[in-house]
Amino acid sequence: MITHEIQLTAQIVGVPGREHFTVAEVEIDGDVVVRTDYLGLAATCLELMRSDCHLPVPAWQPGRRIGLTAVGTVLRSADPGLREGDLVQSMSGWSTHSAGPAGAYVKLDRDTYPDPNFHLAQGPTAYYGVADVAKVGPGDVVFVSGAAGGVGSLAAQIARNLGAAKVVGSAGSQAKAEYLVGTLGLDAAFDHHQDPVAALKELAPEGITVFFDTVGGALYDAALEVAVPGARFALCGSLSTQLGAAADRFPAPDRAAAEAKGVHLLPFSCFHTPDQIAAWHSHFQTWLDQDGFVFPQTVVETGIDGVPDAFLSLLRGDFRGNVSVPLA
Ligand SMILES: NC(=O)c1ccc[n+]([C@@H]2O[C@H](COP(=O)([O-])OP(=O)(O)OC[C@H]3O[C@@H](n4cnc5c(N)ncnc54)[C@H](OP(=O)(O)O)[C@@H]3O)[C@@H](O)[C@H]2O)c1
Repeated sequence: MITHEIQLTAQIVGVPGREHFTVAEVEIDGDVVVRTDYLGLAATCLELMRSDCHLPVPAWQPGRRIGLTAVGTVLRSADPGLREGDLVQSMSGWSTHSAGPAGAYVKLDRDTYPDPNFHLAQGPTAYYGVADVAKVGPGDVVFVSGAAGGVGSLAAQIARNLGAAKVVGSAGSQAKAEYLVGTLGLDAAFDHHQDPVAALKELAPEGITVFFDTVGGALYDAALEVAVPGARFALCGSLSTQLGAAADRFPAPDRAAAEAKGVHLLPFSCFHTPDQIAAWHSHFQTWLDQDGFVFPQTVVETGIDGVPDAFLSLLRGDFRGNVSVPLA
């Protein structure tokens, strides 16, 4: 079996470009052969492509396929646990097909969601951060930065479903802010190019009790300024700095200001443990069945050759929600 796949040409130092990616044809074989139906794209991938990757997992290597999560259909299997036609999820990454031992694939139920790419949602991170780290509950006033992104768009809706009194989001344009309120049902949202302190004082004059932060920088500083004493800050990501060329992509947050207000700084990593995945899926299914919860997504019809350009578009902020590419 021949697969078309995207390989990392060279680890990225500085700004990523099309030259960092190669489309390759590779012969594959294994007990299980799978056709990729959807592959996922997310900003975090960039860190895994860097020579000085800061994540607690090994960086991707040049000449190797980019290995993010994908869902697909089993074409053939020599393992009794998987059959032709089964829907599976794996870390097979940016390729039209994959092959490997049965243990590399997790069997999914085709009837769980309206479309297989719902399984690629960044929900485990969002749910863990909102429910277990920030412990959002009734009465909380929650600010989510990067609220139109893959994690943030879910985090904001999770906060609302856990009983938050108010959910405010920020995003990179007025159109995205309108999407957050009009489609995802946030109480208020603003373009983060505005003065964030002024926007938050207007939209949440009572002060915020929870901050779910995927952006950092000026939005973190603004959140501190409007936080009530004892607020919880779930620190998830640093989009304002991590996508740039600077060596200091993850600057330390201002602890002094947090200490002065007794704000709880709660940086976290979601390792997608079975418990974290199960907690997300049981709530996601329930909330989708009730009205109001939207799966925020962009499906980019680009084919395998266009995946690098789609990824670069994602980094520029061209998409919203969870981003996937259909290949079947
Ligand atoms: N802690 C964990 O366990 C964990 C797990 C997964 C992900 N993460 C982190 O969570 C964050 C969000 O991940 P994601 O997958 O949801 O991201 P994403 O949606 O893939 O990020 C793309 C978005 O980033 C925003 N962006 C780009 N440049 C920006 C800038 N200079 N300032 C502010 N926003 C900018 C753009 O949105 P706008 O147009 O709205 O600005 C763009 O649409 C990332 O930092 C990621 O590394 C953490």
